[in-house]
Amino acid sequence: MAFGIDFGGTGIKGAPVDLDQGDFAAERVRIKTPGKSTPEAIAEVFVELLGQFPDSDGPVGVTVPGVVRHGVVHSAANIDGSWIGTDADRLFTEATGREVHVVNDADAAGLAEVRYGAAAGRQGLVMLTTLGTGIGSALLYDGVLVPNSELGHLEIDGHVAEHRAANSARERDDLSWEKWAGRLTTYYRTLERLFSPDLFLVGGGVSKDFAEFGPLIDIDTEIIPATLLNKAGVVGAALYAAESAGI
Ligand code: BGC
Repeated sequence: MAFGIDFGGTGIKGAPVDLDQGDFAAERVRIKTPGKSTPEAIAEVFVELLGQFPDSDGPVGVTVPGVVRHGVVHSAANIDGSWIGTDADRLFTEATGREVHVVNDADAAGLAEVRYGAAAGRQGLVMLTTLGTGIGSALLYDGVLVPNSELGHLEIDGHVAEHRAANSARERDDLSWEKWAGRLTTYYRTLERLFSPDLFLVGGGVSKDFAEFGPLIDIDTEIIPATLLNKAGVVGAALYAAESAGI
């Protein structure tokens, strides 16, 4: 058993996770993300959240929408700039009194999908992309994660890819599914050319609408929706924490 926390721009979700099943072991709790989401403010929310599960023990995994190397956050494209340089593993471990391990949000989702979800048992190079406020990416080769791939920040035709092709860009520019799928085709064709993956997984909230836009993405590689949907972050974070703790 481990605990997973998914830290996002609008909500912070947490639940104990049954690592045999890859599912929540108790009902998930969601707390609104505070307006100024500095690491210290978020640490207080984690303390409150964990306080609602007095019986939970074991390591705690936390997703962060930025680069994380050895527990230290190194980028903050869509979060408060004060995260950069923060030793989040240490800060959250001290604040909560639990062993906390922080992981990039897309990497957590990728770990969960390869262990329990759409890519379970798939060999070769699996690339997960999450289409949300930004674009997150996870690279997994034979189930092993290569962390912090950050492929939402690829520059394509003079644009940062996530500024053109994230779900937030679809909403901002009021794009039809067809128009958005055109931008996604450009994006995934670039990834195809660079990585020759065996499988693309599409995650993020909008993956529930995959039937609307997925078949319109014109690429050669198999592309399928992720299946853990909004559980992927919490489950993947818990899995990452357990592995980091050597469980
Ligand atoms: C960040 C990534 C993150 C992605 C999805 C990007 O802007 O740089 O670290 O995985 O957004 O949240």
